[in-house]
Amino acid sequence: MSEPLLRVAGLTRTFRGLKAVDGVDLAVEPGTVHGLIGPNGAGKTTFFNLVSGVLVPDAGTVALDGAPLDGLSTYRRTARGLARTFQNIRMFTDASALENVMTGMHSRLASGLPAILGRLPGFRREEREAAAEAQALLGLVGLGGAAARRAGDLPYGDQRRLEIARALAARPKLLLLDEPAAGMNPAETASLVPLLRRLVAERRLTLLLVEHDMKFVMSLCDRITVMNFGRRIADGTPREIREHPAVIEAYLGHGRQAGEAA
Ligand SMILES: Nc1ncnc2c1ncn2[C@@H]1O[C@H](COP(=O)(O)OP(=O)(O)OP(=O)(O)O)[C@@H](O)[C@H]1O
Ligand SMILES: [Mg+2]
Repeated sequence: MSEPLLRVAGLTRTFRGLKAVDGVDLAVEPGTVHGLIGPNGAGKTTFFNLVSGVLVPDAGTVALDGAPLDGLSTYRRTARGLARTFQNIRMFTDASALENVMTGMHSRLASGLPAILGRLPGFRREEREAAAEAQALLGLVGLGGAAARRAGDLPYGDQRRLEIARALAARPKLLLLDEPAAGMNPAETASLVPLLRRLVAERRLTLLLVEHDMKFVMSLCDRITVMNFGRRIADGTPREIREHPAVIEAYLGHGRQAGEAA
């Protein structure tokens, strides 16, 4: 078996006595789509926050491509090849779609974020190339015609795609997506499957994604890890997960069945 792109061991984080993430191990193989699922409050977003450096773990290690990320800032982790999107969309709503994508490049451009948004001289030198790349990324996510539009005016599903384009601007090896289909209608959700597949195939990207829509997860993921109450309770192929007694039990305990959208 190849060395995993992401290796997480014993990751733990407690909030006022509550073990939000409790000794979780996870390995993501390169070139795969890996799902992280579990009932509300299972610890999925906290896990992403620990892996991306937004939160500091109480214990455990995170390594990307064999190199430890422990103690590095979110910015450094992005520069190492780890990008993410957020459960609640975060973007510069008053900036254009194109400018939003360009902000995603700041971890690898010489100019800092203030220079990009303020159009300082150091940035202008890089600007033309960056804008062309940002435009290409917008095209890749199906927003090629929306470059000049105010990000906050885009329909919700398009804002979700814009977030993906911005994350891709960092040229990540691994992209973490926290509920990419949340708030999308069924047609928008369905169209996300071929888009994400294309990213993996054409950009040599690896995806780790949290999503409650089981149809989406089961059709997209090569492998799935299940969390409940901070713990990893199962890990396997979509078929194994669908039939896993602990998974069925976890979803029943939360008042719904595994395989049903939350
Ligand atoms: N900053 C925080 N301070 C205190 N408690 C927190 C904090 N962040 C998360 N929690 C708690 O940790 C647990 C896990 O939350 P988390 O947001 O990681 O769950 P989740 O699996 O992403 O849930 P959802 O599917 O609803 O997004 C919850 O009980 C939550 O209330
Ligand atoms: Mg969450």
